[in-house]
Amino acid sequence: MVRVSRCAARRLVLVTCFVAFSAGVAWAAGPADVARGKYVFGAAAGCGCHTEPKGQANAGGKKFEGPFGTVYASNITPDRPTGIGGWTDEQIITAVRFGRRPNGERILPVHPFTSFNGMAEEDLKALVSFLRTVPPVHRTTPPKKITVPMFERVFLPVWLATFASKETPPPAAPVSGLPRGEYLVRAVGHCGECHTPRSALTMAVDNSRLLAGNSKKTGPEGQAAPNITPDKGTGIGDWTEEQIVTYLGTGNRPDGDVAGGLMGENIQGTLAGYKDMTNADLRSIAQYLKSIPAIKNKIE
Ligand code: HEC
Repeated sequence: MVRVSRCAARRLVLVTCFVAFSAGVAWAAGPADVARGKYVFGAAAGCGCHTEPKGQANAGGKKFEGPFGTVYASNITPDRPTGIGGWTDEQIITAVRFGRRPNGERILPVHPFTSFNGMAEEDLKALVSFLRTVPPVHRTTPPKKITVPMFERVFLPVWLATFASKETPPPAAPVSGLPRGEYLVRAVGHCGECHTPRSALTMAVDNSRLLAGNSKKTGPEGQAAPNITPDKGTGIGDWTEEQIVTYLGTGNRPDGDVAGGLMGENIQGTLAGYKDMTNADLRSIAQYLKSIPAIKNKIE
């Protein structure tokens, strides 16, 4: 008798735990998480590569040419057959951070997963809850065309292990000051993907010259990305903190011109962009940019 009731009690505890846990999961994606996710999405430049100019948000299709062939940004709307609607939260997070699809297939590092790996778990979870609220678009992403033999099976894993420097995620997202600025620049904003010099030979990012710029040859989509270290002659050492905040928040440059190219797109974003970050966050970014080593590197 006693034995049975103990067992029943245990079962009851288990069931209660399970119910509480499931309810917890359901509560986790409340409006506050979605709002936080949208904020993270903006700080990541509106994941702009996944939206074609004037196209539907997150529906993919944008083309990227690389030395390995051609790849198209994926449909990341919640459409089940053609987007990520059938993926679990964990599967989406794994794709964002590690560049792996649920079927084990590799995602090319055109998707900046080595930077996004530095994002905190809570920000990634919030981001996923926001992605699930964007209208689903039924649109098949064109298949990639790889021209280098054995690229994904041999070259890419070796490249990732040998040359790619991965960011490390913090236990929680820093909330203020320089650590916040560093987190937004290096992980979420993935500024280094375009602004940190890449080797012309391997195209790997050289973090020993963090944010010192790329010429057209190694820059994103054939565009030059300026040196944004505090070097006075070749970087942005002459910009005040306030001018950096204004630039990231509006696109207006200190010389009266406006941000163009990919940077203009990042600031504007899609459903959100850099411009939607709080003043406090933009200031943290500006302070961090002022704190890194000044590197002389003239970008033509
Ligand atoms: C997708 C590539 C890309 C990413 C990511 C990116 N930038 Fe840029 N950035 C550019 C390009 C290209 C320009 C040049 C824009 C122009 O010609 O108007 C630029 C210009 C700038 C400038 C103006 C510098 C100057 O001397 O004119 C600043 C400051 C800047 N970016 C900061 C940042 C910060 C901070 C981040 C991350 C939060 C960031 N960028 C992320 C591509 C990028």
